[in-house]
Amino acid sequence: MNIKWDAEKYTSDYSFIPQYGNDVIELIDTGDVSSVLDLGCGNGSLTKALHDKGFSVKGIDASGELLDIARKNHPDIEFIQADATDFVLPEPVDAVFSNAVFHWIDKEKQSSMLECVYRALKINGQFVFEFGGYGNNRLIHLQLEKVFSEYGYQYKMPFYFPTIGEYSVLLEQAGFEVKYAILFDRPTKLVGENGLKDWIHMFVKTPFSDVDDSVREAMIDKAVEKLQDDLYKDGTWYSDYVRIRMKAVKRC
Ligand code: BEZ
Repeated sequence: MNIKWDAEKYTSDYSFIPQYGNDVIELIDTGDVSSVLDLGCGNGSLTKALHDKGFSVKGIDASGELLDIARKNHPDIEFIQADATDFVLPEPVDAVFSNAVFHWIDKEKQSSMLECVYRALKINGQFVFEFGGYGNNRLIHLQLEKVFSEYGYQYKMPFYFPTIGEYSVLLEQAGFEVKYAILFDRPTKLVGENGLKDWIHMFVKTPFSDVDDSVREAMIDKAVEKLQDDLYKDGTWYSDYVRIRMKAVKRC
């Protein structure tokens, strides 16, 4: 997850990402929960929402840029810079929460991440999360794949979007009991006249690593033009998001 974020733009134009995460917080059964880890906390807005619910919270993120914003905005919360696939907490927590993070982690590294989460939880601890599920941004990635091929490149999908079945297996292999799972469409409005172009620039970086800047711009323009019929409605661009939302419990 070594992404260099434009942290200011992420915070201003993509605020819907943490906003939707509030529904995921509601999955935490608050009964005996006092300590919560926000895994992949980004700019800390959901860590703050967890804090405001009365939990004792910590946030972990790999991005120094996003943690700078988190620490500045929420100086009373502890934020730790660490990789989600390789972290250890000094004390186990009652719940681990994560929103819009796990699709950034390669399929091969998901088990390491789940092992870290398992170790970070107390027995009967809750693990609630949402991220991009199977079919997420299907139209966008199919179109990018086409344009890459037309320009003589191969599109390497940079994200992991599993089915419920596939992810349940990983969770069970890590020792979790799956309690709840849903996969659902969430078409989402993007900000501005260049909403989709900006979204591609912001989030789809690694496939373009071998492409010259001017060629990259032509490729993105072409993909955006082709996606207009499907993703531009009444003057607004949409992202064809699909979410996987799950809850699992650590058993001994
Ligand atoms: C998502 O939230 O589903 C997502 C965001 C950026 C890139 C890929 C997926």
